Parts: sequence; structure tokens; C-alpha cells
Amino acid sequence: MQQPQPKPPSPSEDKRWKLVNATMRRHGYAAHALIETLHSVQEAFGFLDEIALRFVAESLDVPLSKVYGVATFYHIFMLKPKGRHTCVVCTGTACYIKGADALLAGIHTRYDINTGDTTADARLSVLTARCVGACGLAPAVVVDGDVFGKLTTDSLITKLEALD
Ligand code: FES
Repeated sequence: MQQPQPKPPSPSEDKRWKLVNATMRRHGYAAHALIETLHSVQEAFGFLDEIALRFVAESLDVPLSKVYGVATFYHIFMLKPKGRHTCVVCTGTACYIKGADALLAGIHTRYDINTGDTTADARLSVLTARCVGACGLAPAVVVDGDVFGKLTTDSLITKLEALD
């Protein structure tokens, strides 16, 4: 009997990869789990970047070209946003209860952008994701890959203003 291929390590220590790995494991790492896996990447990270696409391709043993094909074909999938900085507001249940909506409203008021938008000067893109794996810190936001928790609208805007 053929031995299963060893699976590649997660691209980083980021806990959100656990959510992605759980989806792939649930489907036995089968190639047909591709769309569902990309969904779970997007839910966890807010977008799909090259690192994620490569990781999914390797894990499911699917050609990278196919993964790119699927990710670009479906409009629901968002490839890495255009802003120099990325702010992903978690809208999972815990963060929703603790005021994720207020954070999004604050961003809208300050920068005049909604989820999926980038500011006109391409400085900041804002996205949402469902549960970034830091529920104890709700409401949580991931700014340029770093998780920040227990944010108020003011503390979030201060953080975003401080970005170069
Ligand atoms: S719901 Fe936001 S981190 Fe889990």
C-alpha cells in the first residue's frame, strides 16, 4: 500500500494555519477540498496570498497553476490586497459580540473605505475574516500580520495612523 505523502509544515507559527489545516484534514487532504480550503484561508486571513496558495497546493498535492486558476476564477476569493498596509478586522462570533462592527465603522469614518477597499493613496486595505484564532482577545484585528486584541475604535485608529 502506498504511504501517504508527508504534509508540508505550516508557513508560519500563526495560529490561523491550524484552522486551514483542520479543513484539509477533515477532507483527508483530497484534491476536491481545494475550494473549501481556499475558503478557510480567506476566512482566517481575509485574503489569499502567494504563500497561502503555495501551501494549499503542496498540502493537497494539486498543481499551483490549478490553485491560482480557482482562486482567480471565483469572485468570492480575494487575492492579496493592494494597500501597503493591511488591516483585517475579525468578524467571528466572539469579536462580533465585542464590537467588531464599531471598529469597521470607525475605519469607515476615518478613511472612507469599506471591507475589501483600499484607500485612494494605496496606504491601507481593510478586510474582514471570520475568527482569526484569538477569541480571548476579542475584538481582534490583524495589522500587517500582527494580531492586536481588546481594541477600541480609538486605539485601532491610533495604531493605523502610526503606520508609515
Ligand atoms: S472570533 Fe475573532 S478571534 Fe475568534
